[in-house]
Amino acid sequence: MDNVLIRKATPADQLTIRAMVRAARLNPINLRWPNFVVADDGGHVVGAGQLRPYGDGSRELASLAVIPIYQRLGIGGRIVRQLLADQRGPIYLMCEHTLEGYYERFGFRAIEGRALPKTMARMHRMGNLLMSVGSWLSRQELRISAMRWEGDKPSP
Ligand SMILES: CC(C)(COP(=O)(O)OP(=O)(O)OC[C@H]1O[C@@H](n2cnc3c(N)ncnc32)[C@H](O)[C@@H]1OP(=O)(O)O)[C@@H](O)C(=O)NCCC(=O)NCCS
Repeated sequence: MDNVLIRKATPADQLTIRAMVRAARLNPINLRWPNFVVADDGGHVVGAGQLRPYGDGSRELASLAVIPIYQRLGIGGRIVRQLLADQRGPIYLMCEHTLEGYYERFGFRAIEGRALPKTMARMHRMGNLLMSVGSWLSRQELRISAMRWEGDKPSP
């Protein structure tokens, strides 16, 4: 997958970004191309991720998605590293709890939901309320974890 290029998004990527985030069933709010980097295989966008800014100045690593046939080839990791390059913490994220270990390898650490900035904390509470209904219906633990990155450099 060395031929897959990680680059800043352009206006031409906007529709593809929306479609990918929708297909991955991720939060569809605030998907603006200037905040994204994409993975590009010969002109085809196969992955994306963003630093989503909030009105209070906080930032969330969000909308990370790689199309299924390109998954588990390191592309998601390259997108995360590119998004964190030259950034200072804190950067927050919310993810399915099974992905905590994945994000730990980039330096994110799990935190209490109430330690999130206000808007994200509200979304986290609402998300987990829905998840508790889903857990009850599916009889498996579904939970959204909150994580924070303080600027520790990801391991190579
Ligand atoms: C999560 C996602 C972005 C990872 O991208 P990727 O390019 O496949 O990831 P990488 O190749 O960098 O890393 C692969 C590792 O991710 C971890 N991983 C991927 N999906 C996982 C999942 N659903 N649960 C737990 N770990 C997962 C595994 O540790 C995997 O390592 P392995 O192949 O040795 O088991 C991708 O699977 C995806 O698009 N998923 C659907 C959308 C989504 O859930 N996004 C996350 C939003 S918080």
